[in-house]
Amino acid sequence: MQKLIIIAIDGPAASGKSSVAKYLADKLGYLYVDTGAMYRAITYYALENNIVENEEAVIEASKKIDLKLDYKNGLTSVFINGEDVTEKIRTHEVNAKVSDISRIKDVRAQLVKLQREFGKNNNLIVEGRDTTTVVFPNADLKIFLTADAKERAKRRHLEFKNKGTDISLDEVEKSILNRDTIDSSRKVSPLTKAEDAIEIDTTDLTIEQEIEKIVSKVNELTK
Ligand code: DC
Repeated sequence: MQKLIIIAIDGPAASGKSSVAKYLADKLGYLYVDTGAMYRAITYYALENNIVENEEAVIEASKKIDLKLDYKNGLTSVFINGEDVTEKIRTHEVNAKVSDISRIKDVRAQLVKLQREFGKNNNLIVEGRDTTTVVFPNADLKIFLTADAKERAKRRHLEFKNKGTDISLDEVEKSILNRDTIDSSRKVSPLTKAEDAIEIDTTDLTIEQEIEKIVSKVNELTK
């Protein structure tokens, strides 16, 4: 059997991870795993069930709920106990709470276990905050994407606008900076660059340029 390849991409909110990860997954025919969607799903469930402030209940839920990801044609559909929550996990309310939920150690342990399962039988493109450091420290290629916070806010703001969500650029930037702070300073698996990850600053890059840079690294790997 051929060796399975794992490509892990980390970086802060709106640094360009998803666009490039999806493109690569489609191009290479690898399974795409959006780990942020998994933290979002637990957060949505906690909000719906009014348990966000109850850590024990959130941990219990993360163990019990049936969480499924299904990636097709550029979209990861997310299901909780069979309910399609794909749209519902991308709201401002979920954005505002997801960093708090993803600070919980036992929730992370549960989701990391699921994420590693995906890598057992598949070539993988996996993106998140800790996929290069904790989930797959032995990944074949590790990329760390960064971008200036203002640029990231602009990108996220445009996404909201395209979805018809009315929110100011200022508010989006504040929310991103807040998430950066929590994600980078939390005790468990904080967002950091793995020593052997390749760092790419995407502030002034178009998505095509960003992809080109990464594809050249992938080509070296699969040569
Ligand atoms: O990539 P995203 O914006 O969809 O991620 C949502 C949140 O989930 C992010 O603010 C932090 C958390 N997260 C995490 O802690 N670890 C991951 N591997 C992925 C996301």
